Amino acid sequence: MDSKMKQIKSYVLRAGRMSPAQKKSYDEFFPKYSIEYKDHKIDLNNIFEQKKIVVEIGFGMGDATWQIAKENPDVGYIGIEVHTPGVGKLLHQMKSHNLSNIRVIEHDAVEVFNNMLESESLDGVHIFFPDPWPKKKHHKRRLIQVDFINNILKAVKPGGYIYAVTDWEEYAEHILDVFESIDSLENPYNGFATAQDWRPRTKFENKGLDKNHKINEVLFRKNS
Ligand SMILES: C[S@@+](CC[C@H](N)C(=O)[O-])C[C@H]1O[C@@H](n2cnc3c(N)ncnc32)[C@H](O)[C@@H]1O
Repeated sequence: MDSKMKQIKSYVLRAGRMSPAQKKSYDEFFPKYSIEYKDHKIDLNNIFEQKKIVVEIGFGMGDATWQIAKENPDVGYIGIEVHTPGVGKLLHQMKSHNLSNIRVIEHDAVEVFNNMLESESLDGVHIFFPDPWPKKKHHKRRLIQVDFINNILKAVKPGGYIYAVTDWEEYAEHILDVFESIDSLENPYNGFATAQDWRPRTKFENKGLDKNHKINEVLFRKNS
């Protein structure tokens, strides 16, 4: 890319402080449980003993991440997030719940999928409450766009899934349209998916529910 061209980011780095306990967990566990961003493909089999690998993009404070990982010890989870206090919180939860099947990548997920993840290496991808960027002039910042989803799908195994949830109705329609426009994806539901009871609530979900927002789920499978 032309060095003068700045890629539009799907996030704005928020301020936020870690509690002393989160900071301690970050310092202790980040070296052990993080994967350093690389601009070349990495072999995930060297990282996890688990055969199945699921990525969560933008895990926020990691509420869903650690609970899903605790329920599924046979799956390795990679959480990608740019918000350092959230990374600290997730590492703290890993320590509190004695979990070792999570790795974090503290980097822009767009670059991680562009450069780092091998094709057909993932069993699933979770995107819970991506920033909705409600103003029309900001829609270009939305994470879920055809090009990015196609890039994600390169990394997903045939038969794997992609699962997005949002409380922003117009974004939900957009996500459904994007997924439906991709030939390699199949919708096992008629439109939006039924609520998946294995998905724990997150901080941003609670914020949406407090405002009486409807939660919409979109879950498609990559053709085998
Ligand atoms: C609205 S919050 C939702 C957080 C969490 N999933 C939840 O439900 O509470 C969206 C999160 O996505 C992260 N994010 C946005 N774009 C990202 C990107 N390109 N790479 C990594 N994280 C990203 C933001 O930092 C933020 O924490």
